Amino acid sequence: MEIIVYGSQYGTTEEYAHELSEKTGIKAEKYSDIKDINKYDTIIYLGALYAGSVLGMKKTLSKISDATNKKIIVATVGLADPNDKENRDTIRQRIEKQLPDDIYNQTSIHCLRGGIDYSKLNFKHKTMMGFVYRRAKKLKEDKKNAEVKAIIETYDKKVSFIDFDSLNPIIDEIK
Ligand SMILES: Cc1cc2nc3c(=O)[nH]c(=O)nc-3n(C[C@H](O)[C@H](O)[C@H](O)COP(=O)(O)O)c2cc1C
Repeated sequence: MEIIVYGSQYGTTEEYAHELSEKTGIKAEKYSDIKDINKYDTIIYLGALYAGSVLGMKKTLSKISDATNKKIIVATVGLADPNDKENRDTIRQRIEKQLPDDIYNQTSIHCLRGGIDYSKLNFKHKTMMGFVYRRAKKLKEDKKNAEVKAIIETYDKKVSFIDFDSLNPIIDEIK
């Protein structure tokens, strides 16, 4: 059995999950609605990046009791450009820290780009981004990585980098 599971706070990851569901015919569910992850043999987890953590991923995938013979795909949705190799490597390393070894070793990772709408952010997130932005602006140009650049370029704006074509490699892998 196959399932698409997603962790999304403001909807961009949910949009990707619904599109993937439509294109593959696999049901998509919020991570908080998943009761028994062990009944699925193919799990596609789409999670938004929040301060490096993949929303809901650890909570959901750590419950897998035996990862052998399972196909596990994780796709992150973040603001930093996934075409940047350093960014992709950082995401991968962070996922490695968030998952038990046996599950991580069985997982294939994809990185998608989301968006942000500052007018929709809750107080806590707005405060965090303000703090990160002020710190980012002070960095020397050669110290600005893809994450920092994305924060500076999009601060206080409404932007979407959603690109449904970026789901194609995931669809190919599911087949
Ligand atoms: C408090 C906060 C922290 C974030 N941390 C990251 C991050 O570490 N890396 C990244 O690429 N994007 C980061 N983002 C951007 C989100 O990942 C991006 O807006 C994503 O599309 C949100 O998905 P959602 O709409 O499904 O919640 C952050 C956004 C906020 C508000």
